[in-house]
Amino acid sequence: MTIDQIEKVYDRYSKVYDIIFGKIFANGREVGLQFLELFPGAQVLEVGVGTGLSLPLLSRNVEITGIDLSQDMLNRAQKRVTSLGFSDVRLFKMDATKLEFTDKSFDRVYAAYFISTVPDPVQVVREMKRVCRPGGYLVFLNHFQSEVPLVRLVEKLISPICARMGFRTDLNLQWLMHETGLKIEALDRTDFLGHWRAVRCINP
Ligand SMILES: C[S@@+](CC[C@H](N)C(=O)[O-])C[C@H]1O[C@@H](n2cnc3c(N)ncnc32)[C@H](O)[C@@H]1O
Repeated sequence: MTIDQIEKVYDRYSKVYDIIFGKIFANGREVGLQFLELFPGAQVLEVGVGTGLSLPLLSRNVEITGIDLSQDMLNRAQKRVTSLGFSDVRLFKMDATKLEFTDKSFDRVYAAYFISTVPDPVQVVREMKRVCRPGGYLVFLNHFQSEVPLVRLVEKLISPICARMGFRTDLNLQWLMHETGLKIEALDRTDFLGHWRAVRCINP
């Protein structure tokens, strides 16, 4: 899918997104928070912030910047920020393949259920690395391709169909790490089947 098509898909999802993806990813978000190891004053960027489902967990004496392609998703995130009374959250409409931030601006860059929604995950991770300071953390929550051959085959077969719904199911974690020069520093499985994972990398 093109960037324009993804934007439209998520504009449409925005009305029902929290109902579908609120509870099922709640456990993963808790693991993501632990992986971030936030500290007072930390500069945190959430790429593909969506409706801001992670924001209530993140906003603890840290400065949060959230970006997303979809204005409708961002509008919902903004409503959440306003209703929670957070003053330390900035939201921008932006494409994660071309982040409009200077190098080394953030201590933590967080991608929750996002990296498999972009057509070029390698470029997005390169941008995440660029804007993260050396020694900062890049944290991913995502579905990654299974190690089980039969499951992997099913994931590959259904991926083109899922791509039309705004995400892919065959993203290989090791491949992504190799292509972007990252190493996994911590990994946890966030669902009982083990296909959804939390991954932390330290920015080299
Ligand atoms: C599955 S949602 C995840 C939202 C949120 N991170 C969460 O945890 O619920 C993926 C989000 O990524 C956004 N997105 C997809 N491609 C993007 C891009 N290239 N740049 C910025 N945001 C993008 C979509 O608009 C959507 O809001």
